[in-house]
Order: sequence, then C-alpha cells, then structure tokens
Amino acid sequence: MNIIKSSKALNRYLNTIREGDSKVTIGFIPTMGALHQGHASLIDESVKNNACTVCSIFVNPTQFGDEADLDKYPRPIEKDIKLLMEHGCSILFLPAYEDVYPKNYTHKEFELNNLDHKIEGASRPGHFQGVSNVVSRFFDIIEPTYAYFGQKDFQQTAVVRRLIEICKYETTLKIVPIKREPHGLAMSSRNVRLSDKGRKNAAFIYKSLTQLRDDVPELGLKESVSKAKQFISAQKGARVDYLVAVDSKTLEEVDQIDDAESIAVLTVVEYEGVRLLDNIILK
Ligand code: PAJ
Repeated sequence: MNIIKSSKALNRYLNTIREGDSKVTIGFIPTMGALHQGHASLIDESVKNNACTVCSIFVNPTQFGDEADLDKYPRPIEKDIKLLMEHGCSILFLPAYEDVYPKNYTHKEFELNNLDHKIEGASRPGHFQGVSNVVSRFFDIIEPTYAYFGQKDFQQTAVVRRLIEICKYETTLKIVPIKREPHGLAMSSRNVRLSDKGRKNAAFIYKSLTQLRDDVPELGLKESVSKAKQFISAQKGARVDYLVAVDSKTLEEVDQIDDAESIAVLTVVEYEGVRLLDNIILK
C-alpha cells in the first residue's frame, strides 16, 4: 500500500494510472480513521470492483460542532494502516489540515435542498456543510469513479447524492449495508467509549428497529414508531434524540407506509453519554 500525504502528489499519481489505462476505475472511501469492520466492508467492496482503491483518513474539523468531541476522536493510525493493508487497499491518503484547507480556501455553503438542516442536521448545525466541503475537496483531488459510503450514516448518503448532483461530479455513489457487532449494535468508532456491558446492552437499539419493522403491518407506521420510542426510553440510561420514519430521498417525515416509494427509520439514541446512530430501511 502506498501512503500519500500530499494532494498534489496523489492527483499526479492517479492521473498517471488513468493515462496508462483509460478503462481503469478508481474506488474511494473517505474516513476519519479509527477503522473497524464497518469501514473494512467498504474497502472490501471497492477492492472487489476496482483496480485502484483509495482510502482517506482525515478527522475533519469543519464537521464537528463541539471541539471536545473533535479532541476526543480516536486516532490509532498504526492499527488503521494494518487493517487497510490486510484488506488490499492500494493507496492511503493522509493529508494535513493545510492541504485540505489551504489558506486561500473559502468554506462553501452548498444548496443541499434542506437535507442538511433536518434530523441529524438539527442536532448538529453546520455538520453536513462541513462534510460536503471535505467530500467535495476529496472528489476534486481524486476524481473517483465510485465513492463508497455506509448506510450507517443514512443522511450523509442523501447529502452526498445531492452534492454529486449539484457539482456534476462524474462519480457514482455506492451505499454499503450496515455492519453490526454480534449483538446487533451498529459498528462505530464511538463504540469504544461504551463500557463492555453497555456495548452489549446497546443491542436494544437495533432490536427496537427490527421490532418496529415487524409491527408495521398490524399497528401502522405512526403507532409502530411511537412504540419503538417508548421501548428505547424505557431502557435504563437511554434517551431518544430522534426516531423518525422518512422518505429515503427527501428525508421528509412520513406517517404512513404508502406515503413514499422508499422509507427508512433513522434514530439516534444517547446511551452512557454516547450518541449512537442507527437506521433500518422499511421499503
Ligand atoms: P467515518 O465515521 O469514519 O465513516 C467513514 C465511512 O464508513 C462512512 O461512509 C460511514 O457510513 C461508514 N461506516 C461507519 N460505520 C459503518 C458500519 N457499521 N457499517 C458500514 N459502514 C460504516 O463518515 C465519516 O467518517 C465522515 O463524515 C466522512 C465521510 C469521512 C467525511 O469527513
């Protein structure tokens, strides 16, 4: 695996590959490191389908509202490099802050059709504009054929789809299903902040989502959503930040299963002081 720290060097290197073979495809996985098997499933998908896989590790300050959260973000780089090598990643892009955001860089405000303000965006103002800025910087540098994102961050995939549309990127978005721990908790870099017991217990989040899916035919969507919220709130130490059924494309809230062609339920539960994201696609 090649470790490249400069965006200019990466751009030059990828252009040489493209010039050598016009049919070569480049798969790209942006990450913030502290890699786990969820990230690895994105790498595997890219390695399977592309001659060249680029993974970036960059803890992007512009998407953190809370500086303490940014400081607390784990950065186990040696372990990350090992995982990437084991999964056959071709290039690790490891840029410095000044390379991603040079002095003359002006932070952009993308017109995201309000996708950035609702749900997770309402709890974290500016978060999705930060994500859009860093992703568009990476797309400009890498010009990937395919970009791999996890269903785990469902709203992020909707934002990136919109970004590709408005910036007219020739990159195809690929969404990879959620990788879960054996008990059902969605894998996340933040799970290390849970106690061992908490990590097992937190399976109640996914359990409530699968129960919700099973309840819909009998109770209807609205009732099933409130039942799931009650179930989570009844767990000791758990607080529902949000649990909503939405149209997968617009992220507008829906009340009935026939209200949209494709529906997902998105949730964030605060447990042991950690915000745990999860979702399930209903149809
Ligand atoms: P990060 O949280 O490191 O996640 C990188 C990618 O891994 C995202 O697309 C995320 O959805 C995916 N991922 C995380 N956990 C997963 C799981 N359990 N199963 C499947 N995929 C999973 O998301 C970000 O970083 C940042 O916002 C980023 C896009 C890199 C921009 O800074």
